[in-house]
Amino acid sequence: MQFVRYGAAACALLLAAPAFAADANHGKTLFTACFACHTERPDALGPSLKGVVGRKAAWLQDFRYSPAMTRSGLTWTEANLKDYLRDPQGKVKGNRMPFSGYPNATDVDDVVAYLVTLK
Ligand code: HEC
Repeated sequence: MQFVRYGAAACALLLAAPAFAADANHGKTLFTACFACHTERPDALGPSLKGVVGRKAAWLQDFRYSPAMTRSGLTWTEANLKDYLRDPQGKVKGNRMPFSGYPNATDVDDVVAYLVTLK
């Protein structure tokens, strides 16, 4: 019986592990919602997010950003991306992205972990 109890404790630890590390695979699944707008297609509703981490906001020449995004002066560090994806209007007031933000901090971390892999 003792063994069973240890086994269960070990399982609980394993299950808890992903809560501590951002999960890019889960982020990729979440990104399907972003991909409705953020594709490489010229007629996409949103700018390409390839290489977005470390890039200046409103950087791409072939996308017509809102004045709010152009004026934001942000660089998309992971911290800024997290703030933006938690509350897009709070971070860049008046920007035109029709997305209300993730209420769940883990989802934000996971999506940003996935954005880092987009090169
Ligand atoms: C319904 C369409 C739509 C969806 C869904 C959407 N976006 Fe956007 N996104 C936009 C538009 C449009 C802009 C440009 C906003 C502006 O210029 O004000 C933008 C801008 C951005 C930018 C700034 C890009 C830059 O070059 O400065 C990031 C980062 C971003 N979105 C990430 C995401 C992520 C991550 C998701 C999914 C959680 C997402 N977006 C979902 C339409 C969308």
